[in-house]
Amino acid sequence: MTQRAFPSDFLWGSATSSYQIEGAAFADGRSESIWDRFCKQPGAILDQSNGDIACDHYNRYRDDVALMARLGLQAYRFSVAWPRVLPNGRGAVNQAGLDFYRRLVDELLQHNIRPFVTLYHWDLPQILEEQGGWPVRATAEAFVEYADAVSRALGDTVKDWITHNEPWCAGLLGYQNGEHAPGRKNWNDGLKASHHLLLSHGWAVDVIRRNVPQASVGITLNFTPAMPASRSTEDLNATRHFDGFFNRWFLDPVYGREYPADMVRDYTELGYLPNGLDFVQDGDYKAMAATTDFLGVNYYSRAVLHDPKTGTAPKLDSEYTDIGWEVYPQGLGDLLKRLAFAYNPGKIYVTENGASYNDGPDANGEVNDTRRTQYLHDHLSVCSDAIAAGVPLAGYFVWSLMDNFEWAKGYSQRFGVVWVNYETQERIPKASAHWYSRVVKANAVQPLEVLA
Ligand code: FCB
Repeated sequence: MTQRAFPSDFLWGSATSSYQIEGAAFADGRSESIWDRFCKQPGAILDQSNGDIACDHYNRYRDDVALMARLGLQAYRFSVAWPRVLPNGRGAVNQAGLDFYRRLVDELLQHNIRPFVTLYHWDLPQILEEQGGWPVRATAEAFVEYADAVSRALGDTVKDWITHNEPWCAGLLGYQNGEHAPGRKNWNDGLKASHHLLLSHGWAVDVIRRNVPQASVGITLNFTPAMPASRSTEDLNATRHFDGFFNRWFLDPVYGREYPADMVRDYTELGYLPNGLDFVQDGDYKAMAATTDFLGVNYYSRAVLHDPKTGTAPKLDSEYTDIGWEVYPQGLGDLLKRLAFAYNPGKIYVTENGASYNDGPDANGEVNDTRRTQYLHDHLSVCSDAIAAGVPLAGYFVWSLMDNFEWAKGYSQRFGVVWVNYETQERIPKASAHWYSRVVKANAVQPLEVLA
């Protein structure tokens, strides 16, 4: 039986985001975000819920930090809510909003937990959406003002900065497919939004470096590795297209390769770029390719592609999580190697990985989420193998610290290693949290049977 050890300075953490856990949606001058507005649209959220209260983390952050400390976690990735800091989207800074993050950061530091700040995890001030949202360039300019305000305020003690979380989701789920806020359904808007997200990333990198001595700055992208259902030309082409749409469209410009030519051709043929790449101005590619210190990788599952015109949907002999995503740990290993060796990001953090399993407390009040423990075990084992293969993986953040508001799925999906009772706000660390805590303390993943 092998145990897989990690480098001694490997960083172990958990991740959350502002709208998903904070609640206090109207406290201390916070303005409306696109998610507050979107949640009011009939049918937008599966259980008609919203983030008004969520995990009430805004008021309970001290207890939540103490819980992380008890679990031995070394790092915490959270996001800042733009509408708390700049209620008008730009201009006047709301000190009360910034003060919350100062208190949170101080609490983390007192417990020796390293804060990783994500600036944008999808809660755009609604007022900026009304001025055009991410499809307009001015929103990228406003983001730079916001990045400036936050990095000035926290940069003395926060050194680890993530500009954006998953621009694929913010740009395309938000503006092209409408499943996420603000719920627009227009391909051209989706591609423009994606461009301004990536552009604002590049601009913000420079601002953060200016404001934060010894800053370590990166972006978090989400990846769904694409694999063909068969070796047919059609399935291979569907796989190329999906990889371009999901992965390369975001990855390539960040690493100086501009938008992938095959995808510009596909999108042009499909009519998604009626005016070509008119939104790309001189200097944009250079800005988007700003040098970063690390790449944040979010991984949950893979996609197996078939061309519906010729192929049949593959029947996979796989397990699925409660949200319906295939469990495929090897995809994370393949992805990490591809990213490390084809893009040379310098350093990689897995900034999200985890699973939705809705197990709740048993008669003894314990949550035996065996399937989540297995999921984390298998993905961490693959991470360890990737490091052995030469991938510069420096840390891992489980998604999520606690159950929370899962966007369009509302509270119907539980991703936490800590169970949350939404009636009472009680937190119960699940078996997976205790297991993860042992991994962190040992800095090694042991075969599951050893820990049983
Ligand atoms: C990612 C998001 C995160 C969470 C997980 C399940 O796409 O970044 O907020 O919803 O999925």
